[in-house]
Amino acid sequence: MTFMELAKNRFSERHFDPRPVEREKLDRILEAGRVAPTACNYQPQVVYAIQSPEAMAKARSTRASLYGCPVALLVCYDSDIVWRNPRDRCYEDYNAGEQDASIVAASMMFEAEELGIHSLWIRGFDSKDVIDAFGLPANHVPVMMLALGYPGEKSHPAHLHAKRKPLNDTVREL
Ligand SMILES: Cc1cc2nc3c(=O)[nH]c(=O)nc-3n(C[C@H](O)[C@H](O)[C@H](O)COP(=O)(O)O)c2cc1C
Repeated sequence: MTFMELAKNRFSERHFDPRPVEREKLDRILEAGRVAPTACNYQPQVVYAIQSPEAMAKARSTRASLYGCPVALLVCYDSDIVWRNPRDRCYEDYNAGEQDASIVAASMMFEAEELGIHSLWIRGFDSKDVIDAFGLPANHVPVMMLALGYPGEKSHPAHLHAKRKPLNDTVREL
């Protein structure tokens, strides 16, 4: 499968099968995140793998919708080691943490897809809920959760999946 086919085949999964993701597959997904680029190669990402019943119960307590996934990855960045740009004249003390965490997460999302593991990018949570549930240290800033698992019987793309703006709505030729 080409990357373009992979990118077009992927959709947000909201009907997970409860069967677990094999350890080897999870390790490959994590490896894809490990080799992702980050600003200045500082690698500030911290990925919490959530799959034990205890960890899953904590994840559910955040009220994030996990759609019955058997494993979720909470992607944070470490604000103590993230690249900062104090000279940015638009954003005070700009840091690249959200970008670093997002490219790590996107790399894992596409590796999962290649392995036949579906995913859902989740940011619709209250950061405080997540910090409290997992007892995160103050320097671990939660960015997103990646729900992972095999597609369930009712798996299908939501209607929004088919709605993409044409390129000339989002690309400006300069
Ligand atoms: C930054 C971001 C945050 C998202 N947060 C959520 C979320 O909290 N819950 C959810 O069900 N989907 C969430 N999504 C999934 C989007 O709704 C979805 O990617 C979009 O509607 C396009 O559909 P598709 O992924 O099937 O192509 C999020 C996606 C992104 C990129």
